[in-house]
Amino acid sequence: MDIKLDRQYLKGYIKESDYTKLLPKIKKAHEDLEGRKGKGAEFTGWLDLPRQTKDSFLDELVKLGQEVRGHSDCLLSIGIGGSYIGIRATLEFLVAEQKLPVYYAGHNLSSGYLYHLLKTLEHKQVTVVVISKSGTTTEPALAFRIVKEFMQKKYSAQELKKRIICITDAKKGALRNIVNREGYRSYVISDDVGGRFSVLTPAGLVSLAIAGVDIKALMDGAREAQIACAKMDLKKNVAYQYAGARFLLYKQNKTIEVLSTFYQRFAFVQEWWKQLCGESEGKDGKGIFPASLGFTTDLHSMGQLIQEGKRNIFETFLLAEQADQKVLIPHDAENLDNFNCVAGQDLDYVNKQAHKATAKAHYDGGVPNMTISVPRFDAYSLGQLYYFFEKAIAIKGYLLGVNPFDQPGVEAYKTNMFKLLGRK
Ligand code: PA5
Repeated sequence: MDIKLDRQYLKGYIKESDYTKLLPKIKKAHEDLEGRKGKGAEFTGWLDLPRQTKDSFLDELVKLGQEVRGHSDCLLSIGIGGSYIGIRATLEFLVAEQKLPVYYAGHNLSSGYLYHLLKTLEHKQVTVVVISKSGTTTEPALAFRIVKEFMQKKYSAQELKKRIICITDAKKGALRNIVNREGYRSYVISDDVGGRFSVLTPAGLVSLAIAGVDIKALMDGAREAQIACAKMDLKKNVAYQYAGARFLLYKQNKTIEVLSTFYQRFAFVQEWWKQLCGESEGKDGKGIFPASLGFTTDLHSMGQLIQEGKRNIFETFLLAEQADQKVLIPHDAENLDNFNCVAGQDLDYVNKQAHKATAKAHYDGGVPNMTISVPRFDAYSLGQLYYFFEKAIAIKGYLLGVNPFDQPGVEAYKTNMFKLLGRK
């Protein structure tokens, strides 16, 4: 696997012998997960998903993408949480591959946002993909109700069968009922994959294929990671190394993990990771608080707190070995800014030195840190990264003793809101 984990700045916090002592627990977590006998085992369908996904199904989605791009100027993807973030994370990471503009709805309840979005779409040829595993989530359900009315004014009932695609449960939920009634095209998210683990199911793949992403390369990357991350060998399995490090740091009261990047393209991967960690670990009074920062911008704001604030933080940097573009720094005869020292260098060289400087400074300031790197901004690398994180966070959940695959806590606000709305 191409993903690398640099642990040099964990020195003094985690010794090799700590890993050795942790090994039996990691082995147990590994056996429980791979043997489908741990907590929440009924939601471990994502484990074997890359290998199980048939190429013929990916071909079908690629064809669907070609068809939609033939009749639409844009895609409106409706969904929230796991039915939203993974799509956006993938498209922002692979921005150069995107062939069709994608808009999002159903991830908030802001009337201003939806009003302006529908104005933007007024004169465009639109295809809508609505994604809700449960088929009952408030935000996408209301967005779809409003968007459906907008689409019905724009297109005939026949045309809508082409332009509305629903991704939901095979049998149950309001969205499935709408599909049955209206005859919209639909794809299924299987029962054994939870929302935050669903980016490589139709929940993510349909919108991504329509946007023009190389979903086959994405899946191939995940397939490679599936093989690499299935080995119970701590020396080779970087997902288990990362899970172990997070657990050992948490035990030292490092209860906040900041996922920092020096590349804007990771911004929504960070958001995806936050959902994955937050919902998987944050229960039973336990869990690392997952935060994210974008450097070097945030070094000029939050950098102060990381360097000198309360020492309950550890940091994980997210890097790409190869930058997306080359931008050479010119020589300046007058050298008034005194930066001829980097003249002729690619700007990414300076970015990489900023990472090295930051990792050392934060370590010296009492923030243990690691660096995860992918080779480049392509679909294959991202597929690997998704699977790597999913496996690491699942193992970490088992180390912590929680069920990493449920999210009972998210119901509390819904119950209150439904009471306020008078919804039965
Ligand atoms: O991880 C989860 O399961 C949740 O965050 C869901 O993804 C989110 O609530 C959206 O749910 P649904 O796809 O059922 O509308």
